[in-house]
Amino acid sequence: MGIQLSDRIILAIESSCDDTSAAVLRGDRVLSNRIAGQAVHKQFGGVVPELASRAHQANIVPVVEVALKDAGVGMDDIAAVAYTRGPGLLGSLLVGTSFAKSLALARGIPLLPVHHMEAHVLAHFIKDSPEQKVPETPFLCLTVSGGHTQIVQVESDLSFTVLGETSDDAAGEAFDKIGKLMGLPYPAGPMIDAHAKKGDPQAFRFPQSKSDGLDFSFSGLKTSVLYFLQKAVKEDPSFVANHVEDLCASVQHAIVQPLVQRMEKAADQTGITTLAIAGGVSANSGLRETFRALGVRRQWQTFIPPMQYCTDNAAMIGIAGQLLWQAGKVGSLSDVPVARWHLSGSRR
Ligand code: KG4
Ligand code: ZN
Repeated sequence: MGIQLSDRIILAIESSCDDTSAAVLRGDRVLSNRIAGQAVHKQFGGVVPELASRAHQANIVPVVEVALKDAGVGMDDIAAVAYTRGPGLLGSLLVGTSFAKSLALARGIPLLPVHHMEAHVLAHFIKDSPEQKVPETPFLCLTVSGGHTQIVQVESDLSFTVLGETSDDAAGEAFDKIGKLMGLPYPAGPMIDAHAKKGDPQAFRFPQSKSDGLDFSFSGLKTSVLYFLQKAVKEDPSFVANHVEDLCASVQHAIVQPLVQRMEKAADQTGITTLAIAGGVSANSGLRETFRALGVRRQWQTFIPPMQYCTDNAAMIGIAGQLLWQAGKVGSLSDVPVARWHLSGSRR
C-alpha cells in the first residue's frame, strides 16, 4: 500500500456494540486508546441494546477526556474526528455519531465515518514502532468477531472483496452461544480460550463446518453440542463441571480448524499468500497458534494483531480514519449511522 501517513492528530470514537472507546492517533501511531466496558449486560447473558446506548451516553465524555489526557493533547490539537458509522447496534452507533458530529461542527474539523469491519482489518496498519512490518496489498484477512465471519481480499485502494462468509452464526457468536450452553457468562469466548489451554482438543469429536467453497456455518456445531450436553448431563449432572477443560478445547478446535482451512484454500485459489486475521476472535490463542503454524508450514507471511487491537477499540477506527482522510474520503454532517452495512467491494 505504501502508506505514508502525515503526522495529523485525530480523535477516534468507537461505540458500535457494548464498548465505548476513544483513541488519539498521530499519523499511524497510537498516542492513547481507552475503552470503557459495560458490566451491566453480564446478568442478562448478552448485550441489551437499550442499556448499551445509555451506558455509551454516560461513558463517552469521560472516555474522550482520559484519551486526550493520556495522549497529552488538547482539543485544539485535534485535526479531525473519526467515528464508527456502522455496522452495529443503531442506538449505540447514534451516540458515537452524534458526539463526533457535534465535535466536528463546533470545532470546524473534518468528519471521518468508518466501517467497523474494515477498521478491524486496517488495525494491521497501526505502527507501534517505526520498524514494525505491515501487510503489503493485496492480502487476505480472516475477520472474525461477535457479528461477522468473513474472508476478505484487501486491495491498495482500500477496497474489500468478500470471498467467503458465514451463512448463520459468526465465530464469536458460536463461542458465546456454546459457552452459554455450558453455563459460562457472556461473552464466553475468552473463558473458553482459558479453559481450552488446559484441555484435550481431541477429547470430544464435534462436527466441523463443512460448506463448499469459502463459506462457513456454525449452527450445526452449536446444535450438536446442545444434544451432546443434554444427554451427558442426564447421565451425570456434574458432567460439564468435571469436563469443562476438555469440552472447551474440543469446541475451540471445531471452530478454529475450518477457519484456518478456509484461509489456506482462499490463498491457494487466489495465489495471495500474505494473510492476516482480525476481530475479537483473533484474540483466541488456538486460532493464533493454528494460523501461525499455517504460515510456517506453507512459508506464507502471516499477520496477527496485538491483543489490544483484536477486540473492539477506537485505535482501529483511528487508523481507518487516517487512511480514509489520506484517500480524500471525508464524510459530512448529513451522514447517518448504518446498522447493517456491507463492505465496500462486492462479493466475489
Ligand atoms: O470484535 P469484537 O470485540 O466485537 C464485535 O465486533 O463483535 O468481538 C467480540 C467477540 C465475542 O464473541 C467474544 O466472545 C469473542 O470476540 N472473543 C473471543 C476471545 N476474545 C474475544 N473468542 C474466543 N477467544 C477469545 N480469546
Ligand atoms: Zn468488532
